[in-house]
Amino acid sequence: SMFTPFQNEYPYPNFSEERPRKKMEEALQAVAGQLGKLYPVCLGTSRIESTERLVSINPAKPHQVVGQVCTAPPELVEKAVLEAERAYPAWSSLSPEVRARHLVKLAAILRRRIYEFSAWMVYEVSKSWSEAYADVAEAIDFLEYYAREAVRWGQGKPTVDFPGEENVYFYLPLGVGAVIAPWNFPLAILTGMTMAAVVAGNTVIVKPAEQSSVIAAKLMELLDLAGFPPGVVNLMPGPGETVGEALTAHPKIRFVAFTGSKEVGIHIYQKVATVQPNQKFLRRAILEMGGKDAIIVDDGVGLDTTATEIVRSAFGFQGQKCSACSRLIVHKNLYEPLLQKVIEQARRLRVGDPAQYGIDMGAVIDADAYRKIQSYIAIGKTEGELVMGGVDPAEPDETGYFIHPTIFRDVAPNARIAQEEIFGPVLAVIKADDFDHALEIANSTEYGLTGALFSYNREHIERARREFHVGNLYINRKCTGALVGVQPFGGFNMSGTDSKAGGPDYLGLFLQAKSVSERF
Ligand code: SER
Repeated sequence: SMFTPFQNEYPYPNFSEERPRKKMEEALQAVAGQLGKLYPVCLGTSRIESTERLVSINPAKPHQVVGQVCTAPPELVEKAVLEAERAYPAWSSLSPEVRARHLVKLAAILRRRIYEFSAWMVYEVSKSWSEAYADVAEAIDFLEYYAREAVRWGQGKPTVDFPGEENVYFYLPLGVGAVIAPWNFPLAILTGMTMAAVVAGNTVIVKPAEQSSVIAAKLMELLDLAGFPPGVVNLMPGPGETVGEALTAHPKIRFVAFTGSKEVGIHIYQKVATVQPNQKFLRRAILEMGGKDAIIVDDGVGLDTTATEIVRSAFGFQGQKCSACSRLIVHKNLYEPLLQKVIEQARRLRVGDPAQYGIDMGAVIDADAYRKIQSYIAIGKTEGELVMGGVDPAEPDETGYFIHPTIFRDVAPNARIAQEEIFGPVLAVIKADDFDHALEIANSTEYGLTGALFSYNREHIERARREFHVGNLYINRKCTGALVGVQPFGGFNMSGTDSKAGGPDYLGLFLQAKSVSERF
């Protein structure tokens, strides 16, 4: 192909080394000087400074305004659709190669500014330096990967030969779509969903999560630099209840790509399925929702590295990942010693404002999330034995929404904290009699996103490969941090439509196939 083979933006820097540490400190300082700015709604060539604004704050310092983002009144959806429709004919008729070059250019710009964009996420969503860097790296990966995928899909697929005819099979974009993005991977997932749609030839309207609207606005600035034609990507910040709702309901929006909670995902699924008068096509929903992800620890494994991987899976980015381990299911023979190791290692995590060097866990995203997590911790106290954490005030403290790693032991598999997604640093530990029992517990929620098994038993590993019913299964490693192209990401059951972001089928979700037959 025209591009060199895809390679992940990897490995990540080790911030205990002086060079990357300096770079990150400089970037944090530079971005600190830019906090508090105003960002417009971006529709086509228009930059609209509406009077309604979202104030994006730093969860580790809630009085610190990261930026003010103009929100679009739902009436502007009409204009947004019009701009996207206007941009569509020219954009969709470019060759996949030309569209792909836009993504590769954007990736190059992001790569040059990776520390700066990481710093924005440290302030806006309280990511640790490593988590923030990995988020930008994943955005770059999506761009590079989908660029190559567009070229591949652009070639169509072979058909069976038939005498006297030429038969071809190729793919067309769908049209105008909406992207509704989450705050937890505010750059990576937003970029991934948007650019997959766009490189396939569609034009889109993006609604970022309220809590991370600034990073989305920063990305829009880069799109201009990368030379994306106006109207290909339109940014409509605002609350889900109004802007998200208006986009999802709009009969001219042909598809909605969403990543977020189960409740909102189900709502979108139903809305998108409703056929409205004069609607000329069946709309599509591409949904990535929650998880209640389990790590199974089988008898006989080494405790230290297993505990390290568990702690990363459970508490990385404060547990605010759909992929996070929230259930630890341990074989009874290892239960006590493994739990001790996990507690010991989790104790070493440094919780605090990640604008400072050496912080492992920042604050949770906002006051509502804080209250929700605290309410689950209160429930947990009635369902298991609290062995770590549970020390933070019940009400959010305006000096920062910090929740320390929290672990409950002896939790029943059907307890609420073992069934419901908490989206915070709360781990339920469950004892299993044997491997069969562990597998049964692991599969006993409504979700099916990620899971991990630690085992040296080949027979158990092979059974897990078949029977551990999750979209992303990991063996002898953490259950978070899927890499683009390496572990295509998406889940079963109520975790979504198993869309497998960063995988070889993803672009197909934004395309429709056409068969042309000519008889000579
Ligand atoms: N892709 C992320 C992970 O694997 C979750 O969205 O952790």
